[in-house]
Amino acid sequence: MKTVLGIETSCDETAAAVVNSGNTILSSVVASQIAVHAPYGGVVPELASRKHLESIVPVVGQALAEAGITSRQLDGISVTRGPGLVGALLVGFSFAKAYAFALGIPWVGINHLRGHIHSVLLSPSPPQFPFAALLVSGGHTSIYKVTSPTHMEVMGQTRDDAAGEAFDKISKAMGLGYPGGEIVGKIAEDGDPHKIPFPRAWLDKDKFDFSFSGIKTSVNRYIQTHPDTWENEKPDIAASFQEAVVEVLATKLILAAKRLGCPRVAVAGGVAANTCLRERITLMADKAGMSVHLPDLSLCGDNAAMIAAAGYHSLAAGECAPLDLDVFSRVEKM
Ligand code: KG4
Ligand code: ZN
Repeated sequence: MKTVLGIETSCDETAAAVVNSGNTILSSVVASQIAVHAPYGGVVPELASRKHLESIVPVVGQALAEAGITSRQLDGISVTRGPGLVGALLVGFSFAKAYAFALGIPWVGINHLRGHIHSVLLSPSPPQFPFAALLVSGGHTSIYKVTSPTHMEVMGQTRDDAAGEAFDKISKAMGLGYPGGEIVGKIAEDGDPHKIPFPRAWLDKDKFDFSFSGIKTSVNRYIQTHPDTWENEKPDIAASFQEAVVEVLATKLILAAKRLGCPRVAVAGGVAANTCLRERITLMADKAGMSVHLPDLSLCGDNAAMIAAAGYHSLAAGECAPLDLDVFSRVEKM
């Protein structure tokens, strides 16, 4: 097993990639649907499925062409099985099944969250095992103990909104557009992070669970109670909100590594592209004598290279999914 085609269609990105030996990216193509969903202020599932249907064949063709190989040189296929939008997942999943069957090669269905963790292992200086990993995306916020490429255990997770979802909702509340994380992060650069004392949901200080619905409500209340001034305070609101979220995420990640007794931390998922979060975790880890492992910015958001890398290990172990395997919408096992 060497050359693996990865396919990812769990939400609003149609992505395909070719990865060698689970660690060398030959190509990684991501066709974003942002323009399709932007007028609605969020992902419209039916439109996402239709767009995936249009894009999947050309995107896979482009990934093979950029890798400089033909489909006959593929040894296996790895595709996202869930969690995600079922209609969107089914496009990539059905394509992968049919392609593997036609080519006579093995295929596997991969948990999207496991894929995100592999974006860290694709970095130029991947961490040794075990390490503590914070996964922060639009749908999930969790801390994992990662002990091998195929074994990761949840240490804690959000009880309500995901961190990325909170960024998106705050952006919407301030009329800044979609997708919100990047926009809020950008305007926060011009604001004062200590101007508005938004609440930090520490929950149980010794545990690694999160909650972001309270801060979302606080930001909305601030906007309602400052009708004449809030529009001029957008950078301060964004910076103060971001500070509250980043402080909790970074503190709990460092605490998790201490609890595990391993001086290595990693961050993955769309929100891992946030500059403030990257800097804060680097600073706190340095102080604690820990190494920090951050994926390249191109691998933070949804992509298929991470899915190919994750699937490689299952394929190399001889796994091949049955053709009646199905997708799942909510988190099953990692
Ligand atoms: O991992 P991802 O691409 O998709 C999911 O699996 O959910 O994460 C998308 C999330 C969105 O909520 C988006 O707003 C957020 O990541 N995001 C950011 C940044 N870039 C993307 N959040 C904060 N700062 C950013 N720079
Ligand atoms: Zn994702």
